[in-house]
Amino acid sequence: MQAGLQGEFFRPYHGRMIRLRYTEPVFRPPSEARSLILQVTNGCSWNRCAFCEMYTQPQKRFHFKPQEKIEQELGAVSGSGVPVRRIFLADGDAMTLSFRRLKGIMLAINRHFPGIQRVSSYCLPRNLKNKTAGELAELGELGLKLFYVGCESGDDLVLERVNKGENFETSLAALKKIKAAGLKSSVMILNGMGGKRYSRQHALNSARLMNAAQPEYLSTLVVSFPAGTARYQAGFNNEFESLDQAGLFQEMFWLLDSLELENTVFRSDHASNYLVLKGTMNRDKSRLLRTVRDALERPGAVNLRPEGMRGL
Ligand SMILES: C[S@@+](CC[C@H](N)C(=O)[O-])C[C@H]1O[C@@H](n2cnc3c(N)ncnc32)[C@H](O)[C@@H]1O
Ligand code: SF4
Repeated sequence: MQAGLQGEFFRPYHGRMIRLRYTEPVFRPPSEARSLILQVTNGCSWNRCAFCEMYTQPQKRFHFKPQEKIEQELGAVSGSGVPVRRIFLADGDAMTLSFRRLKGIMLAINRHFPGIQRVSSYCLPRNLKNKTAGELAELGELGLKLFYVGCESGDDLVLERVNKGENFETSLAALKKIKAAGLKSSVMILNGMGGKRYSRQHALNSARLMNAAQPEYLSTLVVSFPAGTARYQAGFNNEFESLDQAGLFQEMFWLLDSLELENTVFRSDHASNYLVLKGTMNRDKSRLLRTVRDALERPGAVNLRPEGMRGL
């Protein structure tokens, strides 16, 4: 995830001075670093997850951008001649937009960039409730092919404690719908989200969810509290105990050990992680488990990201 500054800013794209107006901060997945970020909505319409402070500043109050403004921005970029191969629809849940609006945006993208390779977006499971697999497939035909789904956990109790507003079944239903439409999902799971008490069940049920869904990509981030833990503690009756490094690694071991994935790219390389892990599951399962075991049992044997280099 990448944050910017507060307020409204113009940013250059690919080093060229195309005036694109953003309401900052803007977050995007690390893998969208080279994509054009098209802010079709501002903030997050849910905005109630206890761990997430990404869209809590006043200027990030949820609203969507009118189609004419989106068209103007696309026109400014296409008029500049910079090549655009990938577009990320921001902010936190652009997929809350109706099928009709999303189709309008995708048609405009195709008019301005006929060669567009891939459009992607964050997507809450509930964003797909009012969209059929057929509608998703139609958006896919227009290039909207990848969804970053913040499942965070497969454990219903932990999801309730953090007020995600989703559970195992709703998350699975969304991931299955994405697959049925022939599109791809990249799931985020939060390491440490259940604290000490729920660590094991969080890991095991998250693995169970992934095994049932078989997403194309899976990444883990370490839950972080840049604004303190007060809001988070409230959901845990003030009994939340953060995991230390060893606790995080143990939880990662349980997760990896229980994963039964046919062909999922696994990444635990986000800046919030101490231990960087990359592989394809289950092919690389034993190697990844060995690395985690080494980190647990032979401190110093595995390189860890220093505290000062971590971020959200
Ligand atoms: C910008 S959010 C948008 C995700 C999308 N709204 C959803 O819920 O599916 C992207 C991801 O950042 C991660 N995130 C948010 N707050 C975090 C925190 N405090 N610590 C670690 N990861 C966090 C979560 O995994 C979340 O799904
Ligand atoms: S994690 Fe996603 S749904 Fe939850 S508040 Fe943040 S952006 Fe919104």
